[in-house]
Amino acid sequence: MGGIEEQVTGVNKCSLSSTPKENGTMTSLSSDAVINLDIGDPTLFQSYWSKIGDKCTIAFSGCQSISYFANTKNLCWFLEPELEEQIKRMHRVVGNAAVEDHHIVVGTGSTHLIHAALFALCPPDGPEPTSVVCAAPYYSCYPEATDFLRSGLYKWAGDAQTFDKDGPYLEIVTSPNNPDGTIREAIVKGVQEKLIHDLAYYWPQYTPITCCAHYDVMLFTASKCTGHAGSRIGWALVKDKDVARKMTKFIEVTTIGVSKEAQLRTAKILGVISDSCLHPGSNNFFEYGRRRMAGRWEKLREVMGRGKLFSLPEYPQEYCLFTGEYSESQPGFAWMKCNENIEDFEKFLRGHKILARNGSRFGSDPRHVRASMLCTGEEFKLFIERTCLETEERLLQNKPSRDSL
Ligand SMILES: Cc1ncc(COP(=O)(O)O)c(C=O)c1O
Repeated sequence: MGGIEEQVTGVNKCSLSSTPKENGTMTSLSSDAVINLDIGDPTLFQSYWSKIGDKCTIAFSGCQSISYFANTKNLCWFLEPELEEQIKRMHRVVGNAAVEDHHIVVGTGSTHLIHAALFALCPPDGPEPTSVVCAAPYYSCYPEATDFLRSGLYKWAGDAQTFDKDGPYLEIVTSPNNPDGTIREAIVKGVQEKLIHDLAYYWPQYTPITCCAHYDVMLFTASKCTGHAGSRIGWALVKDKDVARKMTKFIEVTTIGVSKEAQLRTAKILGVISDSCLHPGSNNFFEYGRRRMAGRWEKLREVMGRGKLFSLPEYPQEYCLFTGEYSESQPGFAWMKCNENIEDFEKFLRGHKILARNGSRFGSDPRHVRASMLCTGEEFKLFIERTCLETEERLLQNKPSRDSL
């Protein structure tokens, strides 16, 4: 598998200590291209799936999967039984979430399920909309998703750490967190609390699996698990039957179900991943993902460690139940802090043709940015080159002159 790792060699003035290779990647970006690390498009995983070849290929005949219905006996009547089975199997193989006493609701990406969960968990007859909070820095799409339709059921109330209003509220707990990769628990803890656990990144390529999560509402997405963001498949594991029923109702009313082609393709892919974990020597997907992420983090830390211009969060070593080893998190995003006198870090990086998301979008400050670590090998190579150049130039500028020595 070493052959499909990433190659970041000959990086201008930098000589990086580890130089694993990524073969078969087309070089199409010019050296002065703008690189977009603003979005978390998981193209990093493309090379794994290229190597897998036809194992995941499925074909549909014209007469197949025509009905709206997938399983009328299931509470979530549009959930394909094959997808349900493969979701359960994969959670059992990885050990990251309890499936035995949970209902599965499928959505068009977990974005759809965030809306469905807000709808299902916020009482329809409250005197005012339920406050929705999340500890800052929070995933920038939560405020937008919460307030987009100006619902009478819920409204965005910002940072959970400063929330002190009486009455019902809903806290979204993202763990590992987007943007900063930290492992989180609910913080408000009031009697009238409802929780959504967004576990999009609770997979071994990003973080050690330290327990089998067993929360009331847990959201997962193929986008971050397998890298198939374009299939738009997410799933919720929901303990309470009524909540699962209401979420299903939301999806029924908004989209009358979820594409069967996408569900069956995802089922196939999840099956291939579970097989890869269970059969030694068959390119374990999560091992591959871990190595790729580890390689990227190592390079980024090495470059950042050369100067004091930027800094990154540190993550503790934890025992991973899946790998049986101690390791630290290697999140899908780099939450970068600028330590110099630069007010708007995003703007500064834009000047270096790196697009990253401004910290203020996450309820934090503009001295932070979030940069995707899930980009293509080429984009990552340019990211490292430019960061490296900037760090070295600053070092040279700040270097004491001979006279002052
Ligand atoms: C924490 C988190 N939740 C949910 C999503 C949405 O994922 P999906 O592509 O399934 O809509 C993302 C996407 O970046 C995310 O980072």
